[in-house]
Amino acid sequence: MRIAIHHRKNSFSKHWINYCTQNSIEYKLVNCYDNDIILQLEDCDALMWHHQHINPRDIKFAKQLCFSLEMAGKIVFPDFRSGWHFDDKLGQKYLFESINAPMVPSYAYYSKQEAKKWVKETTFPKVFKLRGGASADNVRLVKSKKEGLRIVNKAFGRGFNQYNALKNLNERWRKYRAGSATWNDVLRGMGRMAVATPFSRIAGKECGYVYFQDFIPNNDYDTRINFVYGKCFASLRKVREGDFRASGSGEGDFDMSKVSTKALRIAFEVANKLQLQSAAYDFVMHNGQPLIVEVSYGFGLHPEMFKHGYWDADLNYYPGSFDPYGWMVEGVIESCKK
Ligand SMILES: Nc1ncnc2c1ncn2[C@@H]1O[C@H](COP(=O)(O)OP(=O)(O)OP(=O)(O)O)[C@@H](O)[C@H]1O
Ligand SMILES: [Mg+2]
Repeated sequence: MRIAIHHRKNSFSKHWINYCTQNSIEYKLVNCYDNDIILQLEDCDALMWHHQHINPRDIKFAKQLCFSLEMAGKIVFPDFRSGWHFDDKLGQKYLFESINAPMVPSYAYYSKQEAKKWVKETTFPKVFKLRGGASADNVRLVKSKKEGLRIVNKAFGRGFNQYNALKNLNERWRKYRAGSATWNDVLRGMGRMAVATPFSRIAGKECGYVYFQDFIPNNDYDTRINFVYGKCFASLRKVREGDFRASGSGEGDFDMSKVSTKALRIAFEVANKLQLQSAAYDFVMHNGQPLIVEVSYGFGLHPEMFKHGYWDADLNYYPGSFDPYGWMVEGVIESCKK
């Protein structure tokens, strides 16, 4: 049994490698960007690659490579079921609606005429999102029909940049004032105003659709529940001051007594139904009912997230530190054996 691992700095791979080394699990480092990657994988049973939504190379082919290998019979992480909807909120809308999962009511239109008709008929505020993006970069509150119509015109006109340098600089400035970013971070943000990031150039503009969700008010934080091979761990993320968005605020709360049992139950049920390897769900609460905002196979790497215990599928809670990266490696090995 040999697992291929694509190594990237600041990703899951360092932890997969450590786990394999400590547990004498055979692994081989591969470079998924190489033209002969398929050949490199010939003597491996599985590939693990923590590919990223904001990496200009990954977005071009990571899913295609993983799913090709899966079709050929290899075990991959993330696999098709866990990965096809990664960084694709439009895909997630149809996925969750198909299985009647409790999702924030979401609306998608693919023609200017239909989108305008919907804006005229619906109520505001609504939350407008691009299909991709993280840290709430591409998420905004739309307060009026007038603003909604402006967005529709732009979506079916010149489109939206997936990377907004001004918003990014503002966010760095906010974090700098709150003490969670350095002056260098701010300077880097200024630099990005002048020179577009490779991601921004390669990803291009988003246009030809609009995606809105009902705005679920009165949430001081969102609930992040991470499912990994049959276990869940959680954190709460406080919303930014004077804002409604939690993700990317950098303010985590690890009081596990605040984690909604209903949300945990939904996280397990959906993951089991869809047979997911890994799923990081964001929930907001609506009159005591957790609603899924979105899902992603990946999650942040902050070590604090892995110190506050986890739950099994029967909702038994196991306090203390744990290693979700090890669960991933063990999950992949288990699948190889099957
Ligand atoms: N429909 C909604 N109603 C109320 N709040 C919302 C809604 N959608 C999103 N939010 C808030 O905005 C934040 C960002 O939204 P979302 O998770 O969709 O964006 P993202 O950029 O993909 O986030 P992530 O960094 O988690 O991938 C959420 O964490 C939540 O706090
Ligand atoms: Mg989110």
